[in-house]
Amino acid sequence: MGLFGSKTQIGVSIGTSSIKVAELKKSGKTYSLEHFGVAQLPDETIVNREIVNHMAVVDALRGLAGELKIKGRGVVTALSGAAVIVKKILLEQTPDGELDDAILWEAEQYVPFDMNEVIVDYQVLSKNGPEGKMEIVLVACKRAFVESYKAAIRDAGFGATCIDVDLFDLQNAFERNYPPETPAALVDIGSSSLKIVVCAGGQPVFSRDAAVGGRALTAEIQKHMNLSFQEAEMLKIDAAARGQMPQEVADLMRIAAENIAAEIKRSLDFFSASNSGANAGYILLSGGGANLAALPKVVEDTCGLPTQILNPFVQIACNPKYFTEESIAAIAGVAAIPVGLALRGFSA
Ligand SMILES: Nc1ncnc2c1ncn2[C@@H]1O[C@H](COP(=O)(O)OP(=O)(O)OP(=O)(O)O)[C@@H](O)[C@H]1O
Ligand SMILES: [Mg+2]
Repeated sequence: MGLFGSKTQIGVSIGTSSIKVAELKKSGKTYSLEHFGVAQLPDETIVNREIVNHMAVVDALRGLAGELKIKGRGVVTALSGAAVIVKKILLEQTPDGELDDAILWEAEQYVPFDMNEVIVDYQVLSKNGPEGKMEIVLVACKRAFVESYKAAIRDAGFGATCIDVDLFDLQNAFERNYPPETPAALVDIGSSSLKIVVCAGGQPVFSRDAAVGGRALTAEIQKHMNLSFQEAEMLKIDAAARGQMPQEVADLMRIAAENIAAEIKRSLDFFSASNSGANAGYILLSGGGANLAALPKVVEDTCGLPTQILNPFVQIACNPKYFTEESIAAIAGVAAIPVGLALRGFSA
């Protein structure tokens, strides 16, 4: 960001069910949300995180950016899912100049793909970690996977200035808005994924990306009620808002909420067991799937931890020219990752 550089950053989150765009402006040390929008993607545009319908992503992003009158061309986006390997490793003390090679060599042990087809990146968490070793987060991803996201962004008229991992953007959104002292478990429940990152002292100390999300519930409703996917989705979302729905659907929703809560508990128990009893102090939920009726309460009861919706606008203002209190409340639940992506752009 030079003297004449852009003071705004654009985060583009390409999810299974929708694309979300957030544009943040930085003035001094404060940030404000300038634009935010969501464009639904046709079903089966993204399957197992792979873009299988390139043009659907391109059209949705181009259309949304046009609607929002986005002027910048550089965007930050993120990848997630089983194709992205995130692993915390301990490395013998290594001089800076040799770190890249040492990490590449180390990565071979953890990456189940041909190393020639993989992009490896890393972040040094601590130069003096446990056992006097360097503590590093290693990220590896298939090159073709990264390229397919970049190509969709390029064909929509943008350029990816930075490609991050969803989990870290959840962390960015959290750290900008919440006090870092108490360890927190951040959980994003999307259409096809459940991402958990436990943050303590400004670091991601545990993470997991599971293939569990709201889409499965829609598919269940579709099957039981003999509806199209779209009809089932509408029934799930509208009925919940109106507070009335067939008993069968209510039962399916309750079971889905219990399954999600059980998944979160399993992960947190695993984290606790592998970190000699360390625990998160509370849970913050985000993503469309977190709207599921009574989910915060079910998670709170199952995990025994206070649970709320992650609000990325505690310390980030929203430009009153474009947003009202109601519109902010309506987007806050799904804005954490796109806002975290835009924040990442300022530090990239
Ligand atoms: N009011 C609601 N009640 C229940 N579920 C809801 C509600 N609103 C949205 N959802 C669900 O949230 C999911 C979409 O959330 P989100 O936009 O965070 O997912 P995504 O980012 O597209 O997916 P992913 O991150 O898994 O790729 C859908 O499964 C949708 O049915
Ligand atoms: Mg998502």
